[in-house]
Amino acid sequence: MADLIEVVGLRKRFGGLLAVNSVDFTIPQGTIVSLIGPNGAGKTTFFNMLTGVYKPTAGRIVFDGEDVTGKPPHAITERGVGRTFQNIRLFQNMTASRTSWSGCTRASRAGSCAASCALRA
Ligand SMILES: Nc1ncnc2c1ncn2[C@@H]1O[C@H](COP(=O)(O)OP(=O)(O)OP(=O)(O)O)[C@@H](O)[C@H]1O
Ligand SMILES: [Mg+2]
Repeated sequence: MADLIEVVGLRKRFGGLLAVNSVDFTIPQGTIVSLIGPNGAGKTTFFNMLTGVYKPTAGRIVFDGEDVTGKPPHAITERGVGRTFQNIRLFQNMTASRTSWSGCTRASRAGSCAASCALRA
């Protein structure tokens, strides 16, 4: 099965701190994967690079066969990549499921409000 996401040698440096060091990561199409690690391991930094919030210091990100390394967030979103942010203050009263679905705003035909309410259009 082809890889939907292929990450090669991804690295992010914040000054003297190497937050993500040469990560290789693939997600085959049609699979569900998770990324786990201790606090400060670099998970959020990795996702921020994957979704264009941070530009990698080095490495390559390929999404659906296209090199998207360093592209801005809106360009990544246009290609169908959704995400939520690590901020528990955003939706205090929503379940984990509803919070996750809010990241599907663009994929939903119902808009951000319905997506936040977990309504599938
Ligand atoms: N914008 C930033 N500027 C400087 N250092 C940063 C920045 N963002 C993250 N870091 C540092 O990079 C390292 C990785 O942080 P990151 O938030 O990616 O870890 P994490 O795996 O998501 O942790 P947690 O499980 O606590 O969410 C940490 O040492 C953090 O302090
Ligand atoms: Mg994090």
